[in-house]
Amino acid sequence: MEKNSHSSPQGTTAPLDVMILAAGLGTRMRSEKAKVLHHLSGRPLIAHVCRTAAALSSRPIYIVVGHQAEEVKAAVHEELGAEGAVFITQEVQRGTGDAVMAARAALADAGSTLLVLSGDVPLVRAETLGALIHQHRTHRGRGAACTLLSVRLDDPTGYGRVVRDTEGRFERIVEQRDATPEERLINEINAGIYCFETRTLFPALERVQPANAQGEYYLTDVPGIMRSEGEDVSVYLHTDAREVSGINTRVELAEFERLLRNRTLRRLMLDSGVTIIDPSHTYISPETQIGRDTIIYPDTHIEGRTVIGENCEIRSGSRITDSRIGSGVQIKDHCVILDSDVADNCALGPFAHLRMNARLEESAAVGNFVEMKKSRLGRQSKAMHLTYLGDATIGDRTNIGAGTVTCNFDGVKKNPTVIEDEVKIGSDTMLVAPVRVHRRAVTAAGSVVTRDVPPATLVAGVPAVVKKHLEDEAGPNTPKNQTVEEVSETTT
Ligand code: UD1
Ligand code: CA
Repeated sequence: MEKNSHSSPQGTTAPLDVMILAAGLGTRMRSEKAKVLHHLSGRPLIAHVCRTAAALSSRPIYIVVGHQAEEVKAAVHEELGAEGAVFITQEVQRGTGDAVMAARAALADAGSTLLVLSGDVPLVRAETLGALIHQHRTHRGRGAACTLLSVRLDDPTGYGRVVRDTEGRFERIVEQRDATPEERLINEINAGIYCFETRTLFPALERVQPANAQGEYYLTDVPGIMRSEGEDVSVYLHTDAREVSGINTRVELAEFERLLRNRTLRRLMLDSGVTIIDPSHTYISPETQIGRDTIIYPDTHIEGRTVIGENCEIRSGSRITDSRIGSGVQIKDHCVILDSDVADNCALGPFAHLRMNARLEESAAVGNFVEMKKSRLGRQSKAMHLTYLGDATIGDRTNIGAGTVTCNFDGVKKNPTVIEDEVKIGSDTMLVAPVRVHRRAVTAAGSVVTRDVPPATLVAGVPAVVKKHLEDEAGPNTPKNQTVEEVSETTT
């Protein structure tokens, strides 16, 4: 059983809480939008940090919000769910120390180890943080009051520097703006990632004064205060500088984007066996999975949680977002596929558009300038040219002729179209929904279908009427005793 902040020979046994600082605007981004809301690999910065935090702790994550709090909360909820976070509001942004202080009521008596992360350090890995926590809890056999994560940088400009005494022990952190010229030469920097014991954190925070160049309450003063009071402060010196560096400008944001992208592309090539013809012009989200021997042409964008099978070909200019693509699928140039599902051996494009839950069954094909929305195209069915299929369910081995439109919107609501198996929809057919075309029916070119079409009949005209029965055993829905002539009469 976990006890509250008691030390043992094995170190502290306090439970772990995680806090993410995300109240700042991020002035250096030169943006109307709070920095943590800017996207990296298609997700807000804060979402990346939340995912890492959730990997470390099953308790709700404390998020300090301020600037655009509602938007930041929404981004956090998206990642962690409604129960996954506790929000602390920092009304006025008076510095990182003040931000942590805003959580005093919630955490001062928690008796926990508090891991503090920044919302603008998105690439830090859970393993690294796990090692930091381990060092913190086992420091000198009893655990430290604070452990901070540092790293050495060739160019430490802008960061807080870790000042050590003559014996190399941690002394304090000094911010760039407050550092002496000698201190600025120190290349060991504070990454802004810390472990504290809540028991000693809040008393130390109370002693922080805004006596610095920015007039802010610096969290970075806390380790020095603790040290001067004889508490143990330890430093976890990490080797991968990139992993723990923050994003402060759009230049850094773009660098991180490239870094993450390369990581993803290398994984796909080395581990998954995907051919990427030109990695410098291929954009694939880290969540994407792709099967072996699939070939990705340059200038493709694969986003969100997309899964693509084996032996596919994805041609240039295509965008695939949050979709599932089977194996052996050909996606020709310039297709847009959003929230959709494509089964094995289908062919799409060039210039096909699938969205809102479109589904192609096995070996189906959609061609040039075909848009599908909330529609299903059955096995071996085809819609090859200039077609809109909205709210439509289409059976197997059906052919949709060029220029077909499901007229699904009546001005008030969307209506469904059903086209059964082995139907031939002639070119330029308008299907005025709700409407059903029964199996083996044929619509002539230019038909405007306003009523259900019986099985195995040919309909034509505006509005379309039955011109011919195509089979004797056409099925139960065929109007009996009705000749083609009678039908024609009723419409002329
Ligand atoms: C901070 C550290 C610096 C360190 C660097 C590492 C301080 C004073 N300095 O500097 O030593 O090298 O991180 O990246 O902590 N925030 C709030 N409320 C505030 C102010 C900031 O929530 O009042 C949040 C920001 O939204 C951000 C994080 O705290 O997510 C860090 O703030 P930022 O202004 O980026 O600090 P740095 O100047 O980068
Ligand atoms: Ca920062």
